[in-house]
Amino acid sequence: MREADHPVELIVIVGFMGSGKTTVARELAQAPNCRAIDLDELITERQQRTPGQIIDQTGEIEFRKIETETLREILAEETRKGGTLIIGLGGGAWIQAENRALIAAQGGLTIWLDAPFELCWQRIEEGTDLRPLARSREAAERLFTNRQERYQLARIRVPISASKTVSETTAEVAAAARLAGV
Ligand code: S3P
Repeated sequence: MREADHPVELIVIVGFMGSGKTTVARELAQAPNCRAIDLDELITERQQRTPGQIIDQTGEIEFRKIETETLREILAEETRKGGTLIIGLGGGAWIQAENRALIAAQGGLTIWLDAPFELCWQRIEEGTDLRPLARSREAAERLFTNRQERYQLARIRVPISASKTVSETTAEVAAAARLAGV
């Protein structure tokens, strides 16, 4: 992966809620010259509210505007710094065409963690995050199904299963990134 003072290499991790984006991005960032940013965490820091709270209090449309603006800002701020930047997106960020265009404009390598719905739902149910768009299994499954074709637009697909460890997934993502020249 690239040394600092060269233009940044950008890896963007996409996938449904519960697919493991944050964890994998964090693990990947352990490699030399790599750093990870979790878009939802950054939004929480800058807005002093979690994405779930923003959606709950102001609605999804407002949240999507904040999400796009924050993504635009980090791409502008961070891509000047060199090295390899790994961004873990929220589950809906990649679904927005404007966000996909922002990422494409930076030549970002997009990697889709393709986890089965059952696994995502189990993690959503077990997790403590407020996820207003997945309040019921039916709502979550509808969203999951509707989003599949947009996730498929990612350049690389990494299949996820319950038996795969974070290290295995991270190694697979890193290998795919290397093959893609990152
Ligand atoms: C969302 C996913 C969440 C968060 C927000 C909306 C979505 O992130 O951005 O609640 O639309 O799928 P995670 O995928 O990290 O749960």
